[in-house]
Amino acid sequence: MSTLENLSCPIDLAPLQRRERSLICQHGHTYDLAKTGYVNLLPVQNKRSKDPGDSKEMVAARHAFLKQQHYFPIVQAILSTWPQGHLRSGVRVLDAGCGEGYYLSEIGRILADWHVDIERMGLDISKWAITAASKADKNVSWLVASNASLPMPEQRFDAVICLFGFPVFTEFSRVLSDDGVLLLVESGANHLIELRKILYPSIHEYKPTFAAGLVDFELLSEQSETFSFELDSQAQIQQLLSMTPHIHKASYEGREAVALLNTITLTADIKLRWYRKKIRDVNNV
Ligand SMILES: C[S@@+](CC[C@H](N)C(=O)[O-])C[C@H]1O[C@@H](n2cnc3c(N)ncnc32)[C@H](O)[C@@H]1O
Repeated sequence: MSTLENLSCPIDLAPLQRRERSLICQHGHTYDLAKTGYVNLLPVQNKRSKDPGDSKEMVAARHAFLKQQHYFPIVQAILSTWPQGHLRSGVRVLDAGCGEGYYLSEIGRILADWHVDIERMGLDISKWAITAASKADKNVSWLVASNASLPMPEQRFDAVICLFGFPVFTEFSRVLSDDGVLLLVESGANHLIELRKILYPSIHEYKPTFAAGLVDFELLSEQSETFSFELDSQAQIQQLLSMTPHIHKASYEGREAVALLNTITLTADIKLRWYRKKIRDVNNV
C-alpha cells in the first residue's frame, strides 16, 4: 500500500508526518496529497524550469508503448539478476526517475505472485509521469521530486533502481542502507539499431558509461540483455520514437523516413549493472 512514510521536508529536511491528506514538518511546511494519492516534494526554488522532466506527451507515448509489454524481458532480467539475499519481504526499493511507473508496477505484480512483499516508492521530476503512475498503481508511494536532492533521510532504502534515467550517485548512496544495492539500466551499443539507422546518416561509436567505475559504489555484476520485438503500426512506431531522445535529436529527413513505416522489427540491447554501496571510512574522509 502507498504509505508515503519516512520522508523529509524538501525545504528544511525535517521529518514529515502524515496528517490526513497532507504531509507536514515541524516548521509547518505542508504538502497536500494530490487526488490520485501522490505528493509533490519539489519546491519551486528547486525547479530549473516551470515544467521539468518528461512532458505530458512523452509520458503518454511511453505509457502506451510500455503497456504493450515489448519491454517485459527487461522486468524479467531485473528480477533474475537482483543480487542474492537482497530480494526478500520487507525490502525497501526506490525507483529514482520512475517515469510512468511501469517497472515498479510490474516488479510488484510478479513479487506478489511469489509472496514476496516489498515496499515500493517511485519518484520522478515530471508531474505528468507521477500523475500517470499514481492513477495506474495504488500500491506504490509516488512522489514528484528530483534525484538531485532526495527528500528522504539517510539509509531509507535497501535498493535504488534507476532505468534509462539521470543518476545522482551521492544522493543514491546517502539514502541507501550500508548493505544497500543500486541497479543502473542503460542502452547497449545495438539498442534500437534498426530505427537509428533510418533516423541518422551515420551511427556514433558506442561509449560505455561509467567505464572508470563509480566513487560511491562497487560493481557487483554486469549483464547484457538482447531481444527483438516487432511493431506493426505507424502509431506504435511513433510511440516508441516519442519516448526516446531520438525524437529531438534526429533530422527532419530521418523522422520523415520513419513516418513512412508501418512495420519494423527492432533489437533491444540493454545493460544491467548492479552495484553495492561502498562504506566510507569515517577516519579517512
Ligand atoms: C528516459 S525516462 C525513463 C523513465 C523510466 N525509468 C522508464 O524507464 O520507463 C527518464 C525519466 O527521468 C525523469 N527525470 C529527469 N530528470 C530527473 C531528475 N533530476 N530527478 C528525477 N527524475 C528525473 C524524466 O522526467 C523521465 O521520466
